[in-house]
Amino acid sequence: MTKLGSNESRDCFTSKFGIICAAAGSAIGLGNIWRFPYVAGESGGGAFLLIYFGFILLLGIPVMMSEFIIGRRGQRNALGSFKQLAPGKPWYLVGVMGIIAAFMILAFYSTIAGWTIHYVIQSFANSFAGKGPGEIAEFFASFQKQTFLPVMWQLIFMAMTVWIIISGVKKGIEKYAKVLMPFLVLMLIIMAVRSVTLEGSKDGLLFLFKPDFSAVDSSVLLAALGQAFFSLSIGMGALITYGSYIQKHNNLGNISVEVSLADTIIAILAGVAIFPAVFAFGLDPDEGFGLIFTVLPNIFQQMPGGYFFSIIFFILLTIAALTSSISILEVVVAYLTEELKLKRRKATIMAGIAAGFVGIFCTLSFGLLKDVTLGNFNIFGILDFTASNLLLPLGGLLIVIFVGWYMKKSDVKDEVSNKATIKMRLFDLVMFILKFIAPVAIAIVLFDSLGVI
Ligand code: TRP
Repeated sequence: MTKLGSNESRDCFTSKFGIICAAAGSAIGLGNIWRFPYVAGESGGGAFLLIYFGFILLLGIPVMMSEFIIGRRGQRNALGSFKQLAPGKPWYLVGVMGIIAAFMILAFYSTIAGWTIHYVIQSFANSFAGKGPGEIAEFFASFQKQTFLPVMWQLIFMAMTVWIIISGVKKGIEKYAKVLMPFLVLMLIIMAVRSVTLEGSKDGLLFLFKPDFSAVDSSVLLAALGQAFFSLSIGMGALITYGSYIQKHNNLGNISVEVSLADTIIAILAGVAIFPAVFAFGLDPDEGFGLIFTVLPNIFQQMPGGYFFSIIFFILLTIAALTSSISILEVVVAYLTEELKLKRRKATIMAGIAAGFVGIFCTLSFGLLKDVTLGNFNIFGILDFTASNLLLPLGGLLIVIFVGWYMKKSDVKDEVSNKATIKMRLFDLVMFILKFIAPVAIAIVLFDSLGVI
């Protein structure tokens, strides 16, 4: 990002490719490789996947586009953009909600990212060598419930996120990300090939691709909706913030489609890498948060050069997590600097410390604090469910209502067509989705599963 002459105070992405990299960097992360398989596994596989696709297409892309529209038109952070576009109205509360969601997501995200860094080190140390599926599962179980080590890695991850934002290497990271992400894709393809060629893997493919709608209930719908929003980074203003850095001549519709497509392809690849292996090794697709950490080391054990693949894979996953976590922290930092006029450095450190503090409780909720629960959820589960399945869809709902009903249609058209310089053949369809289909669908899924309707 470099300064743009016409608007001195704001950073701007210099090229369309730069925006795609930053937005895809935000979208692609632990959500695709850790969260997608574990949620799909808990939600029954095939039918979940189909519903997930439907939500990406019908709800995800329109919400993403709406966030870009709000951000680029408002030219401020998530909260400020609403204030700018709807002065004196309570719409800015959507931004407030987003900031709360950002803290929650950052907290549990850093727990998992911390586990990922631990697996980088363990891969170097060749700790999984000669271990079978049972021992690998035990290894994970005993690591997860420790106190010091997981908290240390979690805080290191948070410190890296803070450092990237204040040191100005963010631009550099995005440049690296565009070189490294294709490698991540390549690694996933190699792992997927190994996974599907394992003996007994066929059931995994059937699990992932053969829909069984008999198990679909409102909680599966909500899980798919939450996962779609989480994976695309939408519903809390991260892409409003990024939208405000997009130049006026870039095509918001195209960007939304391209980023969503890339994100979805990576999630499917992760699914194809994981589920065949789950069945081949006799593991349980329904095992929850730890799924990839108990499955992946088994795949590497069965691969020539697995030692190196394992190291490289977990490093790439850590980098993917960083390009996502900076986009989450950026929401809070942009708010603190633009609305509360804090210095960028101070704002970033403060937000990082606060999120790191909450993160400690998340990390410990697998060990020391595992008895602190609400229903079936530990602290980690409470934050994940509340942020991903409740706050993001609610935020998304309000965002599409804002663009579909509150903003003037001519303003929306002006923004998506770059002042009528690009043809918008599908504009009326997009407007129809934003006005009717998206809000109704999100509301039904959200309120139905909460028992409100
Ligand atoms: N989408 C990211 C992932 O899949 C996580 C993420 C980044 C996110 N920014 C977000 C999730 C904003 C929700 C909202 O890993």
